[in-house]
Amino acid sequence: MTGNTTEGLFHAGSSVGAALNSATSQQWLHWAIAQIESDFQRSADTHLIAIKSDSIKKFSDAGIDIYFKDESTHPTGSLKHRLARSLFLYALCNGWVREGQTVIEASSGSTAVSEAYFARLLGLPFIAVMPKTTSPEKIALIEFYGGRCHFVERASDVYAASRLLAKESGGHYMDQFTYAERATDWRGNNNIAESIFSQMSRERHAIPTWIVVGAGTGGTSATIGRYVRYHRHPTQLCVADPEGSVFAKYHQSGDASLTSNGSKIEGIGRPQVEPSFIRELVDRMIEVSNVNSIAAMRSLSALLARKVGPSTGTNFFAVISIAEEMRKAGVQGAILSLICDAGERYLPTYHSDSWVNAQLGNCEHACKRFAQLTPI
Ligand SMILES: Cc1ncc(COP(=O)(O)O)c(C=O)c1O
Repeated sequence: MTGNTTEGLFHAGSSVGAALNSATSQQWLHWAIAQIESDFQRSADTHLIAIKSDSIKKFSDAGIDIYFKDESTHPTGSLKHRLARSLFLYALCNGWVREGQTVIEASSGSTAVSEAYFARLLGLPFIAVMPKTTSPEKIALIEFYGGRCHFVERASDVYAASRLLAKESGGHYMDQFTYAERATDWRGNNNIAESIFSQMSRERHAIPTWIVVGAGTGGTSATIGRYVRYHRHPTQLCVADPEGSVFAKYHQSGDASLTSNGSKIEGIGRPQVEPSFIRELVDRMIEVSNVNSIAAMRSLSALLARKVGPSTGTNFFAVISIAEEMRKAGVQGAILSLICDAGERYLPTYHSDSWVNAQLGNCEHACKRFAQLTPI
């Protein structure tokens, strides 16, 4: 390369690009994108369930309708199927993932299950880095899709361990916590928000008053928050934050250096402020205790006659809190939230009384109190 002439630079630059864009790697890239697109074409959108039940009749009588978008029906069983697809397309089109390269992710489970699925689709080795407390069901699912699990002591150790594994294996660290909010197309393109508003379009309150979601990476709340603003909807966004998470305190103080012991509700709540959690997009935070998350999880599972996951319980508690406020204030409208994943993944954990009593505390009182709000 000759001194500081631009000609030298182009050469230098173009050699990297050229290597990446060699016929074979471009061929593989196009094949990989085509695999993901055809998988998407084979998939149907998730249902929007209108909660119709005597237990919430007092709300519908007051003009308040409650909906849950059922993300547990994705091929890999959770809302993370969308994120995993977006992260793979983002990394592929950035030239960060190439043929035969190992993909690594730091995940509490749901994202890793979905990423393992897409890695298998592309014939790539996949390693999930997770706390050793992750539910055996999720570990089995990652291995079912051909992934390998790498365990760390604490939730906060996943980042460094993932970076090290990527360095050692020459692999790519997908890093959902950084890229979740960037990889998803928030203006449309079949994102979760576009699907919500189109499925609500024939309801009596077609534009929801509130959308309630949890935050793990913060990607879901960022996508919905931006979409609502971009399409100029009056809808407000509430994040239901579990006990022990830093997000609610960060939302209030703006102090990004906050840390905590983290959440005991799998998938949501974090021990540190994550780059994909955009506090400016969130209109309100509701902090939910563990026993209330479990009480609401049990109540919604009974109401739907099928089990939902714990982070859905956290959502439902916040939904009912807002519904009660609206009812007392005489405000009508729709409240929409997500079924993030199915309860079958948590039978030996969150759906086991003995496990819950040992890990989270006795929920009896919380269940009685919640039952008063949603009498079955
Ligand atoms: C079960 C479950 N619910 C909710 C979420 C929150 O989603 P997000 O990461 O988009 O904030 C996650 C994230 O991992 C999850 O696994």
